[in-house]
Amino acid sequence: MIKAESWWRNSAIYQVYPRSFQDSNGDGEGDLKGVISRLDYLASLGIDAIWLSPFYKSPNKDGGYDVADPRDVDPRFGNLTDAKALIEAAHQRSLRVIFDIVPNHFSTEHLWFKEAISSPRGSTARARFHFYDGRGANGEIPPNNWHSIFGGPAWTRITEEDGSKGQWYLHLFDSTQADLNWDNQEVRRDFEKTLRFWLDLGVDGFRIDVAHGLAKETILEDHPDPEGLTRALRLDVTDMAKEDRERLLSDVPFFDREGVHEIYRSWRKIFESYESERISVAEAWVHPSSRAARYVRSDELHQIFNFDFLIAPWDSEFLINAIKRTLIEVSAVNAPPTWVLSNHDSPRLVSRLGGGELGERKARAFALLTHSLPGGIYIYQGEELALEDGQLPDSARQDPVFFRTNGVDKGRDGARIPIPWSSETNFGFTNVKPWLPIPESWSTKTVLLQNNLKDSSLNLYRESLRIRNLHSALKPSLDLKIEWIGAPAGVIALRREPGFMLVANTNDQSVKLEVGAGAKLLIASAAGVEISGAEASIPSHTTCWLSRE
Ligand code: GLC
Ligand code: CA
Repeated sequence: MIKAESWWRNSAIYQVYPRSFQDSNGDGEGDLKGVISRLDYLASLGIDAIWLSPFYKSPNKDGGYDVADPRDVDPRFGNLTDAKALIEAAHQRSLRVIFDIVPNHFSTEHLWFKEAISSPRGSTARARFHFYDGRGANGEIPPNNWHSIFGGPAWTRITEEDGSKGQWYLHLFDSTQADLNWDNQEVRRDFEKTLRFWLDLGVDGFRIDVAHGLAKETILEDHPDPEGLTRALRLDVTDMAKEDRERLLSDVPFFDREGVHEIYRSWRKIFESYESERISVAEAWVHPSSRAARYVRSDELHQIFNFDFLIAPWDSEFLINAIKRTLIEVSAVNAPPTWVLSNHDSPRLVSRLGGGELGERKARAFALLTHSLPGGIYIYQGEELALEDGQLPDSARQDPVFFRTNGVDKGRDGARIPIPWSSETNFGFTNVKPWLPIPESWSTKTVLLQNNLKDSSLNLYRESLRIRNLHSALKPSLDLKIEWIGAPAGVIALRREPGFMLVANTNDQSVKLEVGAGAKLLIASAAGVEISGAEASIPSHTTCWLSRE
């Protein structure tokens, strides 16, 4: 059932990466109590909900996305009592709480996997994963030629109990993340138990990790171009012809198969069985993008991340096309669009836009554009502070991507550096050495400092979210309508009714344009917007919101 006024149709959801948010017990890593201690800060932003990256029991080989027990908290983050306390303390501040579940794989430290390797070929314990005999005279060739997304082969061979070389198991990511077999009923039942476990504890919904990966097809067939496929899947590979990439991504035997939808239909029934609203958002990279709508049909998931902006240049034509296409695609199934500028897997927005003052200027303008759009927006911790990626020595790196590519790909640690809160030791994040070094240069970016600076990035985010929550053209509505206004090259101009207008200038020079008589400035990403009569002058790389009678 679609509840017309549902909050998630126009939500601002803030991603907390718990390990890097706030340490409460002096071990150099963030934890749940730390998040609780910062809830007032989170509430001050004007967001609707927080989404927490995984804090479950995990050997932490992939930042906790290698889950050893999906129904327990890892001691480094606290315990179940802390998780419950966090949900309650957030609810007291009218913040909803979304947890991150990882159904595509379990850590090889999960009891099931340990049971699988100590059980014989063909056992029910092995059937929960993808175990197969190898090819070749001695089974020395993997069952197929797929590559791991993190580099290297997608298969690892185990040693059987008797010491002999044994079967291979599939892992699309790190070798410590064994893919689950979703054709197996026990796997399905176990996940339903996990969903209910957290829903009963009071969580408001889930972010579903690798939601497009659960169903696999042709698992015993070689792919015609496994290396090309992995390159096509990697966002940092830029020297690939568009047609080649599109061809490879249009049919990936382990992503976006029909089989995933039946799983989400069954999950939706579970969400609906709760009295209060429980929601879900899919992390699913699909091609062509029109396939995204299939995940948010009315009996499946609520939102799907739209990653167009995550990889978008600050270019008006590109952005207008992305917005138009997204709105058409999701409105076909009556789902809200979403907009994501950054997350824990990608370079920070300011860095992606070139870094430095100009990068920050563009990032602020980009954020203000994003916050004006219909649908759900996502903010990754530190994005509101205009943080850049931290420069890290290779010796500090922890991401498996770095190790599995032998350092060719530096990995994602640069975007996972702890939050600089204040001018205290270690920026108030911890009182010991933080798990990743925090750059000294961030002393000009702390929350404390930005709180007191009227024009800081932090206060820009607060103010834009405040207006977004209040303005009758922007606040929750089912109306996805945007009216595009003709504008000079490099300028995005749009209206939302009643009475809202946005102008974003992506040019290196200022522009002048007609905005109609009586337009008033609501907020601007940079100083210098001038309105005289019916004309506005907008400085370079600046977005402004105007109200019109
Ligand atoms: C998702 C997560 C990423 C993780 C991967 C494997 O893409 O966002 O951090 O490494 O899944 O679980
Ligand atoms: Ca800690």
